[in-house]
Amino acid sequence: TQEVTFYEAVGGEETFRRLVHRFYAGVAADPLLRPLYPEEDLGPAEERLRLFLIQYWGGPHTYGERRGHPRLRMRHVPFRIGEAERDAWLGHMRNAVEELELPEPLETMLWDYLVMAANSLINTPG
Ligand code: HEM
Repeated sequence: TQEVTFYEAVGGEETFRRLVHRFYAGVAADPLLRPLYPEEDLGPAEERLRLFLIQYWGGPHTYGERRGHPRLRMRHVPFRIGEAERDAWLGHMRNAVEELELPEPLETMLWDYLVMAANSLINTPG
Protein backbone atom coordinates (compact mmCIF):
# COMPACT_ATOMS: atom_id res chain seq x y z
CA THR A 1 0.00 0.00 0.00
CA GLN A 2 1.09 3.54 -0.58
CA GLU A 3 1.02 5.87 2.37
CA VAL A 4 0.74 9.56 1.64
CA THR A 5 1.71 11.59 4.67
CA PHE A 6 -0.32 14.58 5.79
CA TYR A 7 2.79 16.63 5.01
CA GLU A 8 2.67 15.50 1.38
CA ALA A 9 -1.11 15.73 1.12
CA VAL A 10 -1.18 19.43 2.02
CA GLY A 11 1.61 20.35 -0.37
CA GLY A 12 4.86 19.75 1.49
CA GLU A 13 7.38 22.31 2.66
CA GLU A 14 5.92 25.22 0.72
CA THR A 15 2.59 24.93 2.55
CA PHE A 16 4.24 24.93 5.99
CA ARG A 17 6.44 27.83 4.94
CA ARG A 18 3.37 29.88 4.01
CA LEU A 19 1.49 28.86 7.17
CA VAL A 20 4.23 29.79 9.61
CA HIS A 21 5.29 32.92 7.74
CA ARG A 22 1.74 34.29 7.83
CA PHE A 23 1.45 33.33 11.50
CA TYR A 24 4.63 35.18 12.46
CA ALA A 25 3.53 38.27 10.56
CA GLY A 26 0.60 38.34 12.99
CA VAL A 27 2.81 37.75 16.04
CA ALA A 28 5.17 40.55 14.96
CA ALA A 29 2.30 43.05 15.19
CA ASP A 30 0.72 41.64 18.37
CA PRO A 31 1.27 43.74 21.53
CA LEU A 32 0.47 40.80 23.83
CA LEU A 33 2.56 38.11 22.12
CA ARG A 34 5.50 40.00 20.62
CA PRO A 35 7.12 40.79 24.00
CA LEU A 36 7.19 37.07 24.88
CA TYR A 37 9.65 36.32 22.08
CA PRO A 38 13.16 36.80 23.44
CA GLU A 39 14.88 37.54 20.15
CA GLU A 40 14.62 40.75 18.18
CA ASP A 41 14.70 38.75 14.95
CA LEU A 42 11.66 36.46 14.69
CA GLY A 43 13.21 34.60 11.75
CA PRO A 44 14.88 31.84 13.82
CA ALA A 45 11.70 31.25 15.85
CA GLU A 46 9.74 31.05 12.60
CA GLU A 47 12.14 28.42 11.30
CA ARG A 48 11.91 26.35 14.50
CA LEU A 49 8.10 26.26 14.39
CA ARG A 50 8.10 25.45 10.68
CA LEU A 51 10.56 22.57 11.09
CA PHE A 52 8.67 21.24 14.10
CA LEU A 53 5.34 21.18 12.25
CA ILE A 54 6.92 19.60 9.17
CA GLN A 55 8.35 16.82 11.33
CA TYR A 56 5.14 16.35 13.31
CA TRP A 57 3.09 15.86 10.12
CA GLY A 58 5.40 13.31 8.56
CA GLY A 59 7.98 15.37 6.70
CA PRO A 60 11.76 15.48 7.15
CA HIS A 61 13.13 15.26 10.72
CA THR A 62 15.33 18.33 10.46
CA TYR A 63 13.78 19.73 13.64
CA GLY A 64 14.94 16.75 15.69
CA GLU A 65 18.41 16.79 14.14
CA ARG A 66 18.84 20.42 15.19
CA ARG A 67 16.85 20.65 18.41
CA GLY A 68 16.48 17.11 19.74
CA HIS A 69 13.26 15.96 21.39
CA PRO A 70 10.63 18.73 21.10
CA ARG A 71 9.68 18.79 24.83
CA LEU A 72 7.25 21.56 23.98
CA ARG A 73 5.75 21.89 27.43
CA MET A 74 9.18 22.30 29.00
CA ARG A 75 10.37 24.71 26.31
CA HIS A 76 7.38 26.98 26.95
CA VAL A 77 7.84 27.17 30.72
CA PRO A 78 9.84 30.44 30.49
CA PHE A 79 6.87 32.16 28.81
CA ARG A 80 3.72 33.19 30.60
CA ILE A 81 0.96 31.45 28.64
CA GLY A 82 -2.55 32.01 29.95
CA GLU A 83 -5.88 31.87 28.13
CA ALA A 84 -5.34 35.32 26.60
CA GLU A 85 -1.97 34.30 25.12
CA ARG A 86 -3.45 31.03 23.85
CA ASP A 87 -6.34 32.88 22.22
CA ALA A 88 -4.00 35.38 20.57
CA TRP A 89 -1.71 32.59 19.31
CA LEU A 90 -4.66 30.64 17.92
CA GLY A 91 -6.14 33.78 16.36
CA HIS A 92 -3.03 34.34 14.23
CA MET A 93 -2.87 30.65 13.45
CA ARG A 94 -6.54 30.62 12.39
CA ASN A 95 -5.89 33.40 9.86
CA ALA A 96 -2.83 31.58 8.58
CA VAL A 97 -4.67 28.25 8.24
CA GLU A 98 -7.56 29.85 6.38
CA GLU A 99 -5.23 31.45 3.86
CA LEU A 100 -3.98 27.99 2.87
CA GLU A 101 -7.48 27.04 1.65
CA LEU A 102 -6.85 23.35 2.35
CA PRO A 103 -9.54 20.86 1.36
CA GLU A 104 -11.40 19.01 4.08
CA PRO A 105 -10.73 16.95 6.09
CA LEU A 106 -7.17 18.30 5.99
CA GLU A 107 -7.99 21.79 7.26
CA THR A 108 -9.94 20.44 10.23
CA MET A 109 -7.19 17.92 11.08
CA LEU A 110 -4.59 20.68 11.14
CA TRP A 111 -6.76 23.09 13.09
CA ASP A 112 -7.87 20.55 15.70
CA TYR A 113 -4.25 19.62 16.36
CA LEU A 114 -3.22 23.26 16.80
CA VAL A 115 -6.08 23.90 19.26
CA MET A 116 -5.18 20.80 21.26
CA ALA A 117 -1.48 21.69 21.30
CA ALA A 118 -2.13 25.31 22.31
CA ASN A 119 -4.39 24.20 25.18
CA SER A 120 -1.71 21.80 26.39
CA LEU A 121 0.83 24.64 26.66
CA ILE A 122 -1.14 26.85 29.03
CA ASN A 123 1.08 27.15 32.09
CA THR A 124 -0.40 30.14 33.95
CA PRO A 125 -3.92 30.21 35.40
CA GLY A 126 -6.23 33.15 34.91
C1 HEM B 1 8.82 28.42 20.80
C2 HEM B 1 5.18 31.11 22.52
C3 HEM B 1 2.04 27.63 21.34
C4 HEM B 1 5.60 25.26 19.09
C5 HEM B 1 8.09 29.45 21.38
C6 HEM B 1 8.66 30.66 21.88
C7 HEM B 1 7.64 31.40 22.37
C8 HEM B 1 6.43 30.67 22.17
C9 HEM B 1 7.73 32.78 23.02
C10 HEM B 1 10.14 31.02 21.85
C11 HEM B 1 10.51 31.42 20.45
C12 HEM B 1 11.74 30.70 19.96
O1 HEM B 1 12.82 31.19 20.28
O2 HEM B 1 11.63 29.67 19.29
C13 HEM B 1 4.00 30.38 22.38
C14 HEM B 1 2.70 30.82 22.85
C15 HEM B 1 1.81 29.84 22.54
C16 HEM B 1 2.58 28.79 21.86
C17 HEM B 1 2.37 32.13 23.56
C18 HEM B 1 0.33 29.85 22.86
C19 HEM B 1 -0.33 28.77 23.29
C20 HEM B 1 2.73 26.71 20.58
C21 HEM B 1 2.13 25.56 19.93
C22 HEM B 1 3.14 24.88 19.31
C23 HEM B 1 4.36 25.62 19.56
C24 HEM B 1 0.65 25.20 19.99
C25 HEM B 1 3.09 23.63 18.49
C26 HEM B 1 2.06 23.24 17.79
C27 HEM B 1 6.77 25.89 19.38
C28 HEM B 1 8.08 25.42 18.95
C29 HEM B 1 9.01 26.31 19.47
C30 HEM B 1 8.25 27.34 20.19
C31 HEM B 1 8.36 24.17 18.11
C32 HEM B 1 10.53 26.23 19.34
C33 HEM B 1 11.06 25.21 20.36
C34 HEM B 1 12.56 25.08 20.28
O3 HEM B 1 13.05 24.23 19.52
O4 HEM B 1 13.24 25.81 21.00
N1 HEM B 1 6.73 29.48 21.56
N2 HEM B 1 3.89 29.16 21.79
N3 HEM B 1 4.07 26.71 20.35
N4 HEM B 1 6.92 27.03 20.12
FE1 HEM B 1 5.43 28.07 20.98
